[in-house]
Amino acid sequence: SAIFSRGVAGLKPKVPTSPRALEEAACKAMGAKARAYVVGSAGAENSANANRTSLDRVEILPRMLRETTARDMSTTVLGQHLEAPVLVAPVGAAGLVRRHSDVAIGEAAAKVGVPYILSSQGSDPMEEVAAAMGAGPRWFQLYWSKDTELVRSFVRRAESAGAGAIVLTVDTTLLGWRPRDLDLGSLPFARGIGIAQYTTDPRFEELVAERLAAPPENSDAQADPPPTPAAVRTLLDICRNHPGDFLDNLRSPVPRAAVQTFLDVYSNPALSWEHVEQLRGMTSLPVVIKGILTPADAKRAFAVGADAVMVSNHGGRQVDGTIGALDALREIRGAVSRTDTLLFDSGVRGGADVFKAIACGADAVTIGRPSIYGLAIDGRRGVEAVLRNIIAEFDLTMALAGVRSLAEIDASTVRTREAL
Ligand code: FNR
Repeated sequence: SAIFSRGVAGLKPKVPTSPRALEEAACKAMGAKARAYVVGSAGAENSANANRTSLDRVEILPRMLRETTARDMSTTVLGQHLEAPVLVAPVGAAGLVRRHSDVAIGEAAAKVGVPYILSSQGSDPMEEVAAAMGAGPRWFQLYWSKDTELVRSFVRRAESAGAGAIVLTVDTTLLGWRPRDLDLGSLPFARGIGIAQYTTDPRFEELVAERLAAPPENSDAQADPPPTPAAVRTLLDICRNHPGDFLDNLRSPVPRAAVQTFLDVYSNPALSWEHVEQLRGMTSLPVVIKGILTPADAKRAFAVGADAVMVSNHGGRQVDGTIGALDALREIRGAVSRTDTLLFDSGVRGGADVFKAIACGADAVTIGRPSIYGLAIDGRRGVEAVLRNIIAEFDLTMALAGVRSLAEIDASTVRTREAL
């Protein structure tokens, strides 16, 4: 409401409140490679467009004269109290946008009081982000590496860093086909960005040493000269000494072979449901499966012991031409139990979108690109402004739609058009 009053008083905010203006201002603030990486999606970007279409097709049916003075946006997700049904989505390699990106996002989330899901491709080590967040709630997002010991060490470190849940992302066993990055010849990891989580872990260095001793057969490593210890050292040093730095400014380029070594361990197309069970056995923290788009997969996730499912198509960045994420949410909510916890993201740009997601069955939503746009424009303060704006608009939408609690945002508060 402070933001709202300032606007009424004629003061122009540094971080635009309109979603389109926010994206435009962020695009101006970012370099070409950061812009391509953050804004870009897979293929012809049809999935990203479908996300918006699926949200735009849902129409709120506001009810009048309902006395909405006292409103309560709070909820409980995985046993954790949230003041609003909002979390900050994991974003890897945000160091491409700004130095110490993850610390800035973490501090903003802590100030606003919403959980931040730290990415395993973070640009600041999770321990540093946790320290900067104080008592602020955080979860840890995991990409399942080819090395199970590395996975175990991520989970252990996340537990020590105070994570309230482990979010296993299952839609990115390989990086999607992203033309904007490809056409710029840009791969953030190749610039030493987004691998900070790995470098505080002694296991990573051991692993690299093992790979050096025995380069895998039938891999690209054979075509290229095998990584020299010096090459790997350079990569690790860059990550440690220049977290989130723009590599353009560094004199030493990251050797290709070292990058290949990292890519070899980073992700794992062999991921299967057995890994979810394995994770279940590794930790007593709640387990969230992120990147589910079908009722069959959602049911299976709960059947193997997931505590929540995050319905998401990764903002359209992985498979081009998928179902719009909100359509997937509606179908999945119809297929699972009423008490199964569903989180949602992909396309959420404002408070009205949060309302629609809740009406379609989400327990809470996560904010992806908008928080990065805030980061690009004004660092920690920018992220904070974006989060506060979305929450403020959500609160106003509740009031003006005639609801006082999340429980009242049921299916009767919206209708869905067949087509736009
Ligand atoms: C992501 N996303 C993501 N997800 C994840 O599980 N781990 C990660 O490291 C990343 N990294 C990442 C980087 C960037 C730049 C973006 C934009 C997204 C996906 C993210 O968590 C979320 O699912 C999407 O951002 C949601 O889509 P919208 O709302 O941003 O379009």
